[in-house]
Amino acid sequence: MSTRKKSIEDISVAGKKVLLRCDFNVPQDDSGAITDDSRIVASLDTIRYLLEHGAAVVACSHLGRPKGKVTPELSLAPVAVRLSELLGVDVPLASDVTGESARSLAGALQSGQIILLENLRFDAREEKNDPEFARELASLAELYVSDAFGAVHRAHASTVGVSQYLPSVAGLLVNRELEIIGRAISDPARPFVAILGGKKISDKLGVIERLLEIADTLIIGGAMRYTFVKALGGTIGDSLCEPDRLDYALQMLEKAKSRGVKLLLPPDTVAAKSLGDTNPITCASDAVPDGYEGLDIGPKSRELFVDAIANAATVIWNGPMGVFEVDAFAAGTRAVADALAKSNGVTIIGGGDSAAAVRQFGLTDAMTHVSTGGGATLEFLEGKTLPGIECLEDITL
Ligand code: 3PG
Repeated sequence: MSTRKKSIEDISVAGKKVLLRCDFNVPQDDSGAITDDSRIVASLDTIRYLLEHGAAVVACSHLGRPKGKVTPELSLAPVAVRLSELLGVDVPLASDVTGESARSLAGALQSGQIILLENLRFDAREEKNDPEFARELASLAELYVSDAFGAVHRAHASTVGVSQYLPSVAGLLVNRELEIIGRAISDPARPFVAILGGKKISDKLGVIERLLEIADTLIIGGAMRYTFVKALGGTIGDSLCEPDRLDYALQMLEKAKSRGVKLLLPPDTVAAKSLGDTNPITCASDAVPDGYEGLDIGPKSRELFVDAIANAATVIWNGPMGVFEVDAFAAGTRAVADALAKSNGVTIIGGGDSAAAVRQFGLTDAMTHVSTGGGATLEFLEGKTLPGIECLEDITL
């Protein structure tokens, strides 16, 4: 896929009304308070650039999965408030998506001002990529800017459909994600170490295969490792396992061997009877006793992985090593995060839970790049075509 797409820096935005697709899909607590505003913060560079260069910004985003129904708990109101605080300017929120409120606010908008539309997924036509809805959105502006990296794997009206009606370019966040992750997977500084974790192999089948084609070392932690251990004949107690992926695990071990990729599995495990168990044990990963579930990597594994990371020139990490949200099972994920923070190489956190872990440990700023994508980052790593990028204008050389 071409990553050479036109960006807002390649065109003149002065005096233009811009439909800016952001990914403001942020986590909230039960009272609706935003618990992590990273995605809003990540959108600020593009918004400031547009406002400072004389554009008027009609920002839009989805939040959650309201499935076409107006759902008050999923209103973008808390996002409008946070965005106003961060920008230091008022960000009026339209009470609808393409209705009277949106049209009148967008119509009155002047250069240097910004409004936010209500949750795009309150309209069922958004996820269907309905051409009429895309046309209604497009009619609010003269230029489309895609900066919702977390949603570029979705072919929806606001991520793809609008590009049929408006000149369409990338924002600074999308550009940065494409450049940094794109370079790491197409022309990485070596040694290139990839680290995968999380619960299931089945969430990352394509990514494992792809990384075995480009990495020098692939580290597999998290519960997904037990499917590998089981496939190799180990005893995994009550640890998570995907019995229908045992053959796949063996194929990947074979692929690593044939391509000369070092595939590192954790030699030891921290296992417990439950998440609340106050007496976890450390055992070999292939000898977890019955009644025990592996919940973190052990000290030998930490040492092995930290050594591999210390020698790397590029590291991409997606998925925690254990249940880092619980102190007793956080040491493995913390050791990996610390090792990346100390690295002199390029360090990329592939979004989702590993981004949350790095944030929890206060290490976000120590990384070269923390991706704002979850599923989008995985699909990009996998080499899949991203519809929300494909539809943007190419740079003509
Ligand atoms: C995400 O959080 O990964 C993006 O905002 C996409 O959300 P979705 O999976 O609901 O499309």
